[in-house]
Amino acid sequence: MHINRYERAWLTAVAVTLGVFAAAMLVGLLAFGIRLPSPVARVDPNNLANTPFAKPGLKSLGGARYELYATAKMWQFDAGREAGPLGVPPQIRIPARSEVTFYVTSLDVNHGFYIEDHSINLEVVPGQIARATVTFMQPGEYKIICNHYCGAGHQVMYGTVIVE
Ligand code: CUA
Repeated sequence: MHINRYERAWLTAVAVTLGVFAAAMLVGLLAFGIRLPSPVARVDPNNLANTPFAKPGLKSLGGARYELYATAKMWQFDAGREAGPLGVPPQIRIPARSEVTFYVTSLDVNHGFYIEDHSINLEVVPGQIARATVTFMQPGEYKIICNHYCGAGHQVMYGTVIVE
């Protein structure tokens, strides 16, 4: 079959581009462990009494491992005893090289849960538990930011992870 040489060039370019995209996804999947976020479990946002979200906060799992249960609502995160009074964003203190697994759910509308300089960017949906594990290597202060528009107070919805 005869194919015009310009058409052959375009077909080649398209095939190479698709190949590069597929290779990039494979590298992301296999080398960097990038996954689509998915809900870990479901939870009734109106009845958290018998769930770990009833007492949100940081728990040590021994060694350098922690888990943090946090809730999001208009317009603040609650990370338990680390959280200040209403309107004061929570601060979470951990030593450097800690591995923290975050469990986050929303009490009202969709929020975001993004931490500066780390590979965590969760969609926080009422009724669903979002989970991600992050290792904090470098000491410093990293903002937890709601990066999903959630109403009038969206821009004041944040917290801080302090790595010591
Ligand atoms: Cu919560 Cu934006």
